[in-house]
This record gives sequence, structure tokens and C-alpha cells, in this order.
Amino acid sequence: MLSFKKPSAVSSPKRADFPILRNNQALVYLDTAASAQKPDAVLRAMSHVAETYYANIHRGIYKNSQVTTDAFERARETVSRFINAPDTRGVIFTRNTTEAINLVASSWGRAHLKAGDEIILSAMEHHANIVPWQMLRDEIGIEIKIIPLKQDCTLDLEAYEKLLSPRTKLVSVVHISNGTGVINDVKTIITKAKTYNPQIITLVDASQSVVHSKVDMQSLGCDFLAFTGHKLYGPTGVGVLAGKYEILEALPPYQGGGDMIETVTWDKTTFRAPPARFEAGTPAILEVIGLAAAIDYLGDNFYAGEDDLSKYTFEKLSTIEGLTIYGSHAPRIGIFSMNFAGVHPTDVAEILNQQNIAVRSGHHCCMPLMQALGVTGTFRASLGLYNIKADIDKLVEGLIKAKGLLS
Ligand code: ALA
Repeated sequence: MLSFKKPSAVSSPKRADFPILRNNQALVYLDTAASAQKPDAVLRAMSHVAETYYANIHRGIYKNSQVTTDAFERARETVSRFINAPDTRGVIFTRNTTEAINLVASSWGRAHLKAGDEIILSAMEHHANIVPWQMLRDEIGIEIKIIPLKQDCTLDLEAYEKLLSPRTKLVSVVHISNGTGVINDVKTIITKAKTYNPQIITLVDASQSVVHSKVDMQSLGCDFLAFTGHKLYGPTGVGVLAGKYEILEALPPYQGGGDMIETVTWDKTTFRAPPARFEAGTPAILEVIGLAAAIDYLGDNFYAGEDDLSKYTFEKLSTIEGLTIYGSHAPRIGIFSMNFAGVHPTDVAEILNQQNIAVRSGHHCCMPLMQALGVTGTFRASLGLYNIKADIDKLVEGLIKAKGLLS
């Protein structure tokens, strides 16, 4: 369920919290969908641990190891509250969303899928929610069905209902498309799957939605939810897979190694209960603590202001003649994927780059989505909580310049 709070102002009181923007006043950063900038609160939280009590976790009886372990486990509770997970023991730290989905594909997929079983993905998935399933298809012989895109860039939910069959074992969809900013009604998608057959497992890729809205795992009713830290103003190298505990408890490990075992002999190894079973090896300790700091920093009002700035951006972009904004009339957030007819999107991004405006161009790790849109790529401007109206004005100016030079 998405709920945007009423914005207080179209400025960004939080801009001053980001050292990179203090140090680069001229930088117009419009690539938060790829990775967000880091506030002081996150950088300080990580350096504070490293400078005062850092040690490995779950392993030492000495004080610093205990203190670091406590901070790490508190971070798990923070993440659990943030997404209203059904059970904190089902919150697993991974490297990123990609690793979270690979964990499900590898562990749940190999344990539960057999040749002829079907899974449903959507036409707007990131490669992270496509490739692991294709690898499994090639290994096991499952069939992948795709919810198609409608003309307005939303998913065709009538077609989706027809894809559900007695062979459907999993429905895995993205909450908000990184390619277009379009919001999917994942609650309806999940409800339809569970109504058809309560045994169908559901997974939500919340990589963009946790950044822009309140995501409530229990309200969505999904079995698994994945997101990454670095798009949420946290560090790189840390992501989350949250799952229903009773499902995780019955799954085999994804990777083997230290900290996930009960006993090891040359004959046999027994495994700990989740989450430890799925966190082999030393985890990203500082980064997990940094992610919790990002969540604390965002607080309850992290999306305040975005709705207004998003509207402002859309209105301004709409004044540029010849500019296509994909999914412009669909329910959406502040990710704008665009093209000028006959102009290569990378050329536009390069001209913007020359004006210190950072946007992404290309397929955005969504090649099948680009195929559905009938293009090889787009240029994309994505908003973060540090963006202000002046950034948008510069973007619009830059786009008009690019159009003049390239058309
Ligand atoms: N998935 C990230 C993006 O959309 C990297 O740019």
C-alpha cells in the first residue's frame, strides 16, 4: 500500500545533510533510482562504530564484539519495523536486491519447483528479477509467464488473471518500476494469486518503493520482499530479503560457511535456524548498521515534498515539445524515463553531463521493458529528497539545449 504524506514545502530542508552536495554546489544529481547519495547521519554512524568499538559479530565474548553484535541485531529490528515484517527472524541481510532474489530462486526454487511448474513475472522487471529465474528454467525446466504491459505502461491485470493456472507456483513482481516510475498495484496482484491458490508464493521487489513510500509487508500480504540499502540513502553492499518465517524455516541454505552452522564434522553439517542459516560468512557489519542509520534518518516523513516536486517536474517536462515521457499518465513517483524521437538517449545524457546534470541513460537493467516500449533505451531523471525546483529548472534548460543540438 502506498501512502504519500502531504508535503510541507517544495524545497529540500534535507539537502544540507548531504556532504557531496555541500562539496559540489553545482551538481544536479538526478540519478537516485540508480543509487542515492549518503547523508552525514549514515557516514557518521559507520565511522563511529569503526572508530570506537568495531569487532566481528556473533563470535567474540569480549566487550566490543558483544556491543557490535547488539548494534547489528538492533539494525535487524529497525529494518523489520521499517517494512512491518511479519517476523524479525525472517529479516535476512544480503548484499543487495539481486542477491535477495537469487537466494529465493536458489533455495526456495530448487526445493519446490519441478519441470512443468510455472512462475509469473511482469514485463517491467529489473534483470535481477528475471535472470535468476531464467537460470532456474534452464536448469529445471520451469515455464516463465509474463504479465504484459498496457499502452499506458501499467500492467494488464486482466491478462494476469488468465496466466494463473494450477501449475503456478510463484508470482514475483516489482512494486515500482525503476524503468518508468510506474507504481504497480502489488496488493491486488498478491491477493489475486492467493485467492486463486493460497499455496502460490509471492515476492515483491521493493527496491524503489521503500525509497518513495511507506511499504508495509503485512498489509501487502507477500511471502517475500526484497530491497537494497544503497538506493535508500544507505551504503552499498547491504540489502534485505524479508520472508515469512515458516517458509524460511523449511528452506535449505543458499550459501555454506561460517556463522550459519550448528555443528560441522567431516560426515555432516547441521544448520542454524533463520536468519543465521542464510547469512554465511562475515556480513557487511558496518553497512548493516549504516542502513539502520539511513532508516532512522528518514524517519516518518521521508517522502514529504516529493509529491509536489514530482508534479512540478512533470509539468515542466510537459512543456518541452517532442519529449516522450513513458507512463506519464499512470500512477507514478518521481522517476521520469524519456526520449526525443530520433535522438539517442545517451547523447542527451552526455549533453546534460556537460552541464553537471547527472541522469542515467540506456536500458536501466530492464531490456525486456525497453523492448515492450519499442526502444533500446531512454534517458531517466529520478528524484531524491535532496532535489529542489532549481534542479528541475536546470534539467529542463539542459533538455531544451540538447534537443536543439541533436534534432
Ligand atoms: N537498478 C538501478 C537503476 O535503475 C541500477 O539504475
